[in-house]
Amino acid sequence: MRQKLVAGNWKMNGSRASIKELLDGIKKGIGDVVNSEVAVCAPAIYIGEVESQLSGTPVAWGAQNLSTEASGAFTGEIAASMINDFNCKYVLVGHSERRTLYGEGDAVVAKKYAVARAAGLKPVLCIGETLDERESGVTEQVCARQIQAVIELEGVDALADGVIAYEPVWAIGTGKTASPEQAQEVHAFIRRILADQDAGVAEKVQILYGGSMNAANAAELLAQPDIDGGLIGGASLKAEDFLTICRAAG
Ligand code: 13P
Repeated sequence: MRQKLVAGNWKMNGSRASIKELLDGIKKGIGDVVNSEVAVCAPAIYIGEVESQLSGTPVAWGAQNLSTEASGAFTGEIAASMINDFNCKYVLVGHSERRTLYGEGDAVVAKKYAVARAAGLKPVLCIGETLDERESGVTEQVCARQIQAVIELEGVDALADGVIAYEPVWAIGTGKTASPEQAQEVHAFIRRILADQDAGVAEKVQILYGGSMNAANAAELLAQPDIDGGLIGGASLKAEDFLTICRAAG
C-alpha cells in the first residue's frame, strides 16, 4: 500500500505573522492524522522560520522551486544545497505556474528534478494539460511527454525517488476540480505508462492530484485507487481546511 501524502503549496502567499498562525493551527490539529504524510511548501524566504516551527512535528516542509545550478553568479536563484541546508524534504519542480509564467520547458524541469534528486531532496514533478490540450484530446500525450523528459535524462528508476503531481492547468485556482473519475483516469494512465517501463516504480510512486482540491471534495478524490494524495493550493492556507483534507487522506 502506498502511503498518502498531502502537501500544501502556499505559492506566493503569507507573511511571518500569517504563517505562524497557520502553522500553529496545523500543529494543534495534526495529532489525529496518523497514517498520511503531511508537508507544506513555503515561499523560500520563510523556509527557515517554517523549519524552526515544524522541527520535531510530523509535518515535513519543502520549497517551491530550485535552480538547475549548484552555486555561483545566478542572482535571485536558490540552489538545492541551500534547500537541503534548511532540512527540506520536498521541492516542487515544473509547477504549471513555473512552466507558463516563467517559461520552464520539459528539459529545464527534468534538469531540476535531477539536481533535486542528486541533493537528496524528494522532487515533486508537477505535470498536467491545459484546457486547450484537454479539449483537443491530447491530455495523455502531454502528461506522457512531461514524464518522459525526466525518464530520458535520469532513467525510470529516478521516479521512485520522487513524487508525481497531476495538476490539470484548467483546475488550478479556478474552483473547477477534475471529477474523481477524470482524475483517476489520468492517474491510472500515468501508472500504466510507468509500468510499461518498470512495474516496481509504477507500484511505488505516489501520484498526487492538484487543482481546486478542498475540504469538501478531497474525500472523493482521495478514495480513487490511483490518487495517492493531494497538492493543495488555496485550501492549504487555512489550517482547518488543510487539516480536513489531511484527515480525508486517512
Ligand atoms: P489550487 O488548490 O489553489 O487550485 O492550486 C493547486 C496547485 O497549483 C497546487 O500546486
